[in-house]
Amino acid sequence: MTTVGFRPPAYPYDRLAPLAAVAAAAEGGVVDLSVGTPADPPPAAVVEALARSGAERGYPPSVGTVELRSAAAGWMARRLGVRVPDSTVAACVGSKELVAGLPQWLHLRRPDRDTVLYPAISYPTYAMGALLAGLRAVAVPLDERSRLDLTAVGAEDVDRALCLWSNSPGNPAGGLDDLDAVGAWGADHGVPVLSDECYVELTWDGPRRSILRTGTAGRLAVHSVSKRSNLAGLRVGFYAGDPELVTYLSEVRKHAGFMVPGPAQHAAAVALEDDAHVEAQAARYRRRLERLAGILAEAYGVEVALPGGGLYLWVPAPGGDAWAFAERLATEAGCLVSPGEFYGPAGVDHVRVAVVQPDDRIELVARRLGVV
Ligand SMILES: Cc1ncc(COP(=O)(O)O)c(C=O)c1O
Repeated sequence: MTTVGFRPPAYPYDRLAPLAAVAAAAEGGVVDLSVGTPADPPPAAVVEALARSGAERGYPPSVGTVELRSAAAGWMARRLGVRVPDSTVAACVGSKELVAGLPQWLHLRRPDRDTVLYPAISYPTYAMGALLAGLRAVAVPLDERSRLDLTAVGAEDVDRALCLWSNSPGNPAGGLDDLDAVGAWGADHGVPVLSDECYVELTWDGPRRSILRTGTAGRLAVHSVSKRSNLAGLRVGFYAGDPELVTYLSEVRKHAGFMVPGPAQHAAAVALEDDAHVEAQAARYRRRLERLAGILAEAYGVEVALPGGGLYLWVPAPGGDAWAFAERLATEAGCLVSPGEFYGPAGVDHVRVAVVQPDDRIELVARRLGVV
């Protein structure tokens, strides 16, 4: 059968298979710094809570259990200084499915708008969500500090905008948007702002920021326990903000059968009530960011700025050739990194290094490169 419509592109990380094979040949095996998947353990109490929820039998509430919504709202108040009613918080099956699905659901409500604005160097799912909904994805340039430059959005794109994505701290470049200004821009132009804040507890430069700090109208904050609690396998996230938007989305998602499994909802609530494990994890990431930045600077003479937040180094490739640098790192250091084009054409001259491997694996990279 010949198809004429959508053909999924190669998944970015699948394109790394040849380099993974090269890195795997190094003695001691590959040190995988490509995907931002946690390698450190989640809290034991959370894993134990999975077995004790008693929530296996019945269907879980799509919008989220009372326990999860209340834990999420409590977490936002405690960690972000944002107070929202539990009724304006709803669950998602990890944040990726929500990010990918939002344009489709928002477009059903606003069929007169066909454009998704998103950061020019970013997590690929923002653009993919537009594509999956048959919409236009329009990249917003970033300034020299990797923040959205909203002055660069053309008038026609503003008029057609269904939503604007912000991601702060940003993946991959680690920038911190001025979220108050981004929220104000959305209000001025009548464009809902979707703020992906899944790295907020890994903010290195200044206080943690949320789009909801200065209001909820026309704003949605998206969160996840994947990174904060090393629970990417649990698949629990949540979104909060504009009451009308949260109600609309949770109703649509209930019809479509999106549900976080009951035991996972209970375990996520337990995780959200504890901050000590997050502080310990943040310290680990911070130490590894500094160590890897030092290793790469010494071995390759590259200038590696520490990010404003998040768990990635955004490293300029020598000579501007990211694939060549990724290949050198696979060959010479047995380590796998992501070429910047995975995050948009504006990222072609960088590689992204996720500091997700344990310290002894990072020291192995150092030894392979002759750095002590
Ligand atoms: C910016 C950003 N948003 C969302 C996600 C999705 O995370 P999850 O679906 O595990 O909540 C990721 C994962 O890497 C990410 O980097």
